[in-house]
Amino acid sequence: MRTQVVIIGGGPSGLLLGQILHKHGIDTVVVERQTKDYVLSRIRAGVLERGFVSLLEEADCADRLHSEGFTHDGTLISYGEETFRLDFKELTGSSVTVYGQTEVTRDLYEARGKTDATTLFQVEDVEIQEAKSQAPTVSLTHEGVKKTIQCDFIAGCDGFHGVSRTSIPAEVRTEYEKIYPFGWLGILSETPPVNHELIYSNSNRGFALCSMRNNALSRYYIQCSINETPQDWTDDQFWDELKRRIPSEFAERLVVGPSIEKSIAPLRSFVCEPMQWGRLFLCGDAAHIVPPTGAKGLNTAASDVYYLYNALLEFYKQGSDEGIQNYSQKALKRVLKTQRFSWWFSSLMHQNPDQSEFDAKMQIAELEFLRSNASAQKAMAENYVGLPY
Ligand code: APR
Ligand code: PHB
Repeated sequence: MRTQVVIIGGGPSGLLLGQILHKHGIDTVVVERQTKDYVLSRIRAGVLERGFVSLLEEADCADRLHSEGFTHDGTLISYGEETFRLDFKELTGSSVTVYGQTEVTRDLYEARGKTDATTLFQVEDVEIQEAKSQAPTVSLTHEGVKKTIQCDFIAGCDGFHGVSRTSIPAEVRTEYEKIYPFGWLGILSETPPVNHELIYSNSNRGFALCSMRNNALSRYYIQCSINETPQDWTDDQFWDELKRRIPSEFAERLVVGPSIEKSIAPLRSFVCEPMQWGRLFLCGDAAHIVPPTGAKGLNTAASDVYYLYNALLEFYKQGSDEGIQNYSQKALKRVLKTQRFSWWFSSLMHQNPDQSEFDAKMQIAELEFLRSNASAQKAMAENYVGLPY
């Protein structure tokens, strides 16, 4: 089998890259470890930056997003007895779109299914060979048959636990990581959202977030210990704790109901440098992980895709290898800025069990500064709606 670009991983990164390359006449094969249904069963955040929306439009995959997505011009931020609204629209002229990642992935699979592009599901034993050559290959087993795919380039879009990152020699890689001493207990409930915009709350009992998927499907999170399991919390205990952590006006009107999904996510910051090795390029979670506070995981995968597809277009359409030579350097500049924002916002909004009394004082001072200073709010809003690519 031969193609121009092998994309390892059929999550949002791989599918978005595949769809845009297809539009520009570049042939791809996507190889995915799971089934499509399994990929689509994942419940993930969906706060889309303006840049991501533009990429989906470019991929001709934004129709449902525009008809079913929610435009949010701001968010509420609460701490202690204070609650204020960060007005993205007024501060930046931009908004964000709330549209579940699962739906983005579904739309991308539907679009790819309408093309003649090859997608191999339930692949096993994926291995990358000759990444430093001009004729790399990807070997795998599919339906019990061993296959080798010849290609020009490999996009490692296979997430944190994929094979791509570790195909870069350990002595070449530098990995930066921060593990946070808390997690997020999240539930999905078929209840109306408590507010039309998100509510981020730093209460003295811990962080809470009120979000949504649509007008009848709400997504809520509370900070929890990394030693807890979802089974440690009944629905009633979750709702009672959430009410203690959000402003009383919202706690009073919160509509509760049975959880249809309940899970705990650990929080980590992670970056791998470089994001390429010869003709292997890492995109998305394969290269970096952020704590979910700023909803930057999916959006940073999108900016990686933007830099990589432009580099590949330059190569195939203009014969220039400038973009593919500089992909890692260019992508990392924005990756590290979104890492900073995600780390800053997470540190600002959580009760860190290891923090000193001084740290706690500085956290409140930072929140006070954000609430009262237009420049601080503009800086946060620009990060939240998405820094330029
Ligand atoms: N071979 C083939 N596919 C693989 C392999 C492998 N060895 N290992 C992993 N995969 C697949 C996974 O099954 C998954 O479908 O790669 C895909 C990676 O998708 P994601 O983990 O969603 O990563 P990405 O596409 O970069 O999207 C990043 O998704 O996980 C969220 O928070 C993350 O929002 C961020 C976004
Ligand atoms: C979500 O809706 O799951 C969500 C929204 C915003 C975040 C994190 C998660 O910052």
